[in-house]
Parts: sequence; structure tokens; C-alpha cells
Amino acid sequence: MRIHLSRPDITEKEIEAVCAVLRTPNLSLGPKVSEFEQAFANYIGRKRAVAVNSGTSGLFLCMLALGIGPGDEVITTPFTFIASATPIMMVGAKPAFVDIDPVNLNIDPAKIEPGITKKTKAILPVEVFSNPAAFDKVCEIAQKHNLPVIEDSCEALGSTLNGRKVGTFGEISVFGFYPNKQMTTGEGGMILTDDDELADMCISLRNQGRDKSGGWLGHIRLGYNFRLSDINCALGIVQLSRIDEIKAKRRQVAKWYQEMLAGDDRLIVPTEQAGCELSWFVFVVRLAERFTHRQRDQILQTMNAKGIQVSNYFPPVHLQPFMAKQFGYKEGDFPVTESVCKSTVALPFYNNLTKDEVAIVCGTLKETLDKTGLLI
Ligand SMILES: Cc1ncc(COP(=O)(O)O)c(C=O)c1O
Repeated sequence: MRIHLSRPDITEKEIEAVCAVLRTPNLSLGPKVSEFEQAFANYIGRKRAVAVNSGTSGLFLCMLALGIGPGDEVITTPFTFIASATPIMMVGAKPAFVDIDPVNLNIDPAKIEPGITKKTKAILPVEVFSNPAAFDKVCEIAQKHNLPVIEDSCEALGSTLNGRKVGTFGEISVFGFYPNKQMTTGEGGMILTDDDELADMCISLRNQGRDKSGGWLGHIRLGYNFRLSDINCALGIVQLSRIDEIKAKRRQVAKWYQEMLAGDDRLIVPTEQAGCELSWFVFVVRLAERFTHRQRDQILQTMNAKGIQVSNYFPPVHLQPFMAKQFGYKEGDFPVTESVCKSTVALPFYNNLTKDEVAIVCGTLKETLDKTGLLI
């Protein structure tokens, strides 16, 4: 592969911080966990932060802490990574999908109310590709129906809507730190909330159902081991301290792409919506409507064969076979999602991508588009 889809950005500072932990006996349950949590809560501007071993476990713990279980429904979107929906299923509830807005690719607020039933227990907007949802409308509907909002902020660390950071709109929100994210801990996630009860429940659930007073072998509920080690947290602390630099680098790469792809009517190039400042998780272009699904797949194949790693972010979640089988979802259920999914090409995108590499990607993409008719 000549140019990868994503790459972490690890400096000597991160390496030193991880090595420093390795020289102590505190590899887990040590001081780096609360240091990382405190720094993260301060950055986002929320009262509590609870570190966990992945974004998926974080979302799962949100479900449990909010008392969501068998027979319940959580409203969310099918245009996302699978792990927005699977935590809902892990507690025996149903991801009740509603379609997305074709511009910001987030939950379409107009579709939420028709999706609310007696079984609805929460609304879970996804800040897909780091795009904030229309939170004014989403939160208004949630309040009207007395439903908590769970923000899946896994892709959106550092994005803002009208100056307010994502992760502060819902009752509870979750970030993810897999290495393709804006910042990484290797694997990891963070739950954010202003509600002490929810935070304390998540702390107990991530740590084998222990409570504050019960000691190491006192377990007051069914719990899990979703702890994040001090090694991961040390890495996270340094990455978070670099977040402004990271955001600036990503913004620059996005700008190069926007400039080099401008004016090509075969492409819909991502931009920031009014009031939004993106932290740019990925750079996903969409092909114009005249391109077929098959042509998009052919374009992906050709680019990958040429050493430019690209991907189809995302196939529709409701059409994943296990999901369709369990809930009866089928083609045609969410037309906006399905049409967007057929047109996306995620281009290589990471902090240290150079202008020359962006030019190679754009040149290869244009050349591939020129030949698309011939490729099929
Ligand atoms: C939107 C979204 N939700 C949830 C997750 C799950 O996070 P993790 O991979 O850390 O479990 C991810 C990322 O991987 C994601 O992109």
C-alpha cells in the first residue's frame, strides 16, 4: 500500500509517557486513569469522565446505566459503524432505526417523532464523520418525550456546534480511541456525563460490579472488566494534550482535499455545515448520482489496487445480515441511508498526510473516474 487510509500520530512524548508507566508497578488501576479522566472531562467541559477499554463497551455501559433492557427500543441511525447499534442489542433491546439527513448524514430530526413508541427508552444520535447532529431539534424532541439522549461521539472528538463541544449535548456521551480516531489510546473509550449516579454506575459496571466501599472482593451487581490500563491512559493524556495541534493538522489536510477536488461535478466534497467546526475524523467524498453502486465498488477496487487505500464508509447497518434477520429490516426501509451508502469513497486521511500525498490521491481518483465507463 502506498498511501494508507489512516495512521496514528505518535511522537517521542507518547513513547516516553508509556515507558514511564512501564517503569512503575501501576500498570492498571493506578493514577494515570483518574489523571486521563480529569483531563478529558475538563477538555469536553463535563463533570464526570469514565475511561473504558473501547467505545463499544462505553455505549454498552450507557445502556445498562440507563436501565435499558429486553423489549426496549433505542432510536438511532443505520448510517454508522456497526458499534453504534450493537450495544443496544447487547442488552436485549432493539435499534429502532430512523433515516438520516442527506446533507449532514446525521439523524433526521423530522423522522424521530414518528419512530417513537411506548417501548422507546432513549435517542442515540451518531456524530458520524465528526458531524454534529441538529442537537437543538433532537434535544427538544427528547425533552418533550422525556427521553435521555445518548451521544455516540466516537468519531467526533473536538467538533463543535455553535461553539459548544460535541459530547455535551446528551445526558451521556461516549468517545472512542481506536487508532484511526483523532486521538488514540491503542484501544479505549470514554463515557462523559454530568450525572453522578450514571457515572458511579458506569465505574462499578466497568470494574466487576464493585462499589466504592465494598473492597476488592465485594461485588454488588453483575459487572464486567472494561477497565482501561494506565499504559493506555498515559498514551491518552499526551495525545489529548496535543489535540489542538492534531485538529489543526487534520483541518489542513481537509483543506488540501477541498482545494484539489473543487469544481469536479462528479464528486460531492465534504464541507462544514453552518455553525459547525469539525475535527475531521475522515474525508469521505460521495459520487454524483449518475454513478451506480457497481461503479463505486469498481472505483474502490481500482484505487486499492493502485496502492491508495480507500473504503466504503459505511454499508447500511440495517442490512447487515444478522440485523436484517433479527428485526426484519430490508432494502428500501431507509432510502436516504441506502443511497448515500452506495456513493461513498473514504479517502486516505490522517494528521501527517502530506500535500504531495493528497495530490497523488486526488490525481488517482480523477484518473479512475475518467476511466470508470471503461472499467465496467
Ligand atoms: C460511530 C462509532 N461508534 C462506536 C464505535 C466503537 O468504538 P470502538 O471501536 O472503540 O469500540 C466507533 C469506532 O470504532 C464508531 O465509529
